[in-house]
Amino acid sequence: MAQKESEHIDPWSSNLPKDYKEIIKNFGLEKFNVKDFPEPNLLMRRGIIISGRDLGIISRSIKQKKKFYVLTGIMPTADKVHFGTKSVIDMVVYFQNHGAETYVLVADLEAAATRGVDLKTARKRALEIHIPCYVALGLDLKKTKFYFQSSNLDVIKLAFELSNKATLNEYRAIYGNSEPSRIMASLLQVADILHPQLKEPMPGIIPVGIDQDPHIRLARDIASRASKYNFFLPSSINHKFMPSLSGELKMSKSEGNSLFLLDSEKEIKEKISKALTGGQKTLKEQKEKGGDPDKDMIFELFRQHLISSDSELKQREEDYRKGKILDSENKEYATKLLTDFMVDFRKKFEKAQKEVRQIFPE
Ligand code: TRP
Repeated sequence: MAQKESEHIDPWSSNLPKDYKEIIKNFGLEKFNVKDFPEPNLLMRRGIIISGRDLGIISRSIKQKKKFYVLTGIMPTADKVHFGTKSVIDMVVYFQNHGAETYVLVADLEAAATRGVDLKTARKRALEIHIPCYVALGLDLKKTKFYFQSSNLDVIKLAFELSNKATLNEYRAIYGNSEPSRIMASLLQVADILHPQLKEPMPGIIPVGIDQDPHIRLARDIASRASKYNFFLPSSINHKFMPSLSGELKMSKSEGNSLFLLDSEKEIKEKISKALTGGQKTLKEQKEKGGDPDKDMIFELFRQHLISSDSELKQREEDYRKGKILDSENKEYATKLLTDFMVDFRKKFEKAQKEVRQIFPE
């Protein structure tokens, strides 16, 4: 690891943070309190959502039915969407269902600058895979404002204008890095985050993994200096990572042990069978000592994606701790739930693909 966690969080790293509490403390994040939000979704109820910035104003906007927005960006670097991204979209859907104006952008300029993806490929991927996946996860196509960075002049103009509100030293302090391509990308991202307020200042929430907090801090710093706009400082809400199935790295498009939306039945079976569990080395030991659901990637899937009933989940965790459930049974159950999920998801995806094609004809 290049940098100590206490000094920087590297938003471009694949490592899992070791200590979430320490990050929350060191970076002055607010702890998330589930009681502040109506009808919390399963990520919120189960401690996957852990922190944020300025959550109070979002909670009040929801309760008082005041205007606010939610925004996220897609990096079109692969033809696939992994389950870590699903968590972000679940949050976007939550806020959309609770009254937020919704913005989803395709970070094609960022992908071009930082990952060498050409704009045409980015567009094709976004329209054929990413946006339909998001719609299949519950995003309302008609109520969501989608855009491509490369064709949103308001955003590009704002990024240029705001560039004089940041300094190179600040970049180094926040990121520990100051490559020009990343500077371009992060200024553009700040403009993405703030542009919904150009017409009228209003609170906005950006659901991001906790590693993306440096971007949020930069956006808030810049917003506070752009006094002519009276921007609300953007709020954020952070989730813990969905680890890869080996439990070693963040789930990512390039990590082989990741689970993807649209994976086939065969892929699901294979991946689940290899997943890291919290079980003991032998059957005998497992029955005697039980397993640890907190170190188990199958339970991670149950918690974040597959088991919607809190009581069912709790019971299963207890049984696992007591050695009443074996890894093989857990894996079989996860395979079944995932396969069922995928059958349903694929249907919704194909329908969404057609709808997206109608809205964005090539
Ligand atoms: N940088 C983000 C990523 O790597 C993509 C992105 C661009 C984004 N603009 C954004 C995310 C605005 C959230 C908000 O995935």
